[in-house]
Amino acid sequence: MKLGFIGTGKITSAVVAGICGSKIPFNKIFLSPRNRNIAKKLKRKFKKIIIAKNNQEIVNSCNWIFLAVTPPVGDKIIKYLKFKSNQTVISFISTMTLPQLKKTIKVKAKIVRAIPLPPISLRKGPVPIFPPNKKVKNFFNKLGTTVEITNEKLSKNFWSTSGMMAPFYELLSTTSNWLVKRGVKRDKAQKYITSLFVALSEDAVVNSKKNLKHLVKESQTPRGLNEQGVKELRKAGFYRSTEKTLNSILKRLNKV
Ligand SMILES: NC(=O)c1ccc[n+]([C@@H]2O[C@H](COP(=O)([O-])OP(=O)(O)OC[C@H]3O[C@@H](n4cnc5c(N)ncnc54)[C@H](OP(=O)(O)O)[C@@H]3O)[C@@H](O)[C@H]2O)c1
Repeated sequence: MKLGFIGTGKITSAVVAGICGSKIPFNKIFLSPRNRNIAKKLKRKFKKIIIAKNNQEIVNSCNWIFLAVTPPVGDKIIKYLKFKSNQTVISFISTMTLPQLKKTIKVKAKIVRAIPLPPISLRKGPVPIFPPNKKVKNFFNKLGTTVEITNEKLSKNFWSTSGMMAPFYELLSTTSNWLVKRGVKRDKAQKYITSLFVALSEDAVVNSKKNLKHLVKESQTPRGLNEQGVKELRKAGFYRSTEKTLNSILKRLNKV
């Protein structure tokens, strides 16, 4: 199987790293010449990578084509590409809907939307796909956890929560900086905070069949530090504003 990526930026780098470290069988990966520096770096790092001359060469050479450009670039370039009906096109473009993609791609190729996130480079994390597709599901299950979505409107709720990545890292950064301000060396502070949050996340995954509110409860002792932490943050509107932000991200996605 030949895989092609139109747009060689952050998400393509992460997905290509994930694929090259996985058991996915493939013959070649074709990358678009933009961004050239990123494409060259990936070619140096991994085997079986070819930098194509242009986007159409990728479409002509591959069975599966991943669209990994920003929405304005997608609007501009996809309509000029000539796809074949036996191809599978997987779009990472978060704001282009399936009807829009079908109209732009024109031929009756299989079209699937997917939203991988950067930890896919470590072959970890959820990958929501829409519409369900067995082969695409199996593919992303080798790079993380595929979540099949049956309704495009519903899928926007998942896309919205992916806007919580930077806020999560900001929380790690703020907490580490707080330790640094109190005299802890940066590497120690960051090691402590990142291993704390990874342990908490792993515990949450193990317990994810139960309502997560149980973890909130179980991690507090009466009048303890965690009780104080969650109470004060609730009072300050921290969680209300998280919900408000999710609503406004969703509102933005619903406009397109
Ligand atoms: N980053 C994420 O975590 C993430 C997750 C899921 C989905 N997505 C979606 O994936 C898409 C790409 O995101 P990204 O973060 O990877 O963006 P990015 O880092 O800006 O990458 C976009 C790439 O497209 C290239 N490009 C520009 N014009 C092009 C053209 N005419 N033909 C081919 N490539 C062209 C850019 O090259 P130049 O540098 O030369 O301009 C750049 O390398 C977006 O639609 C985003 O919504 C991103």
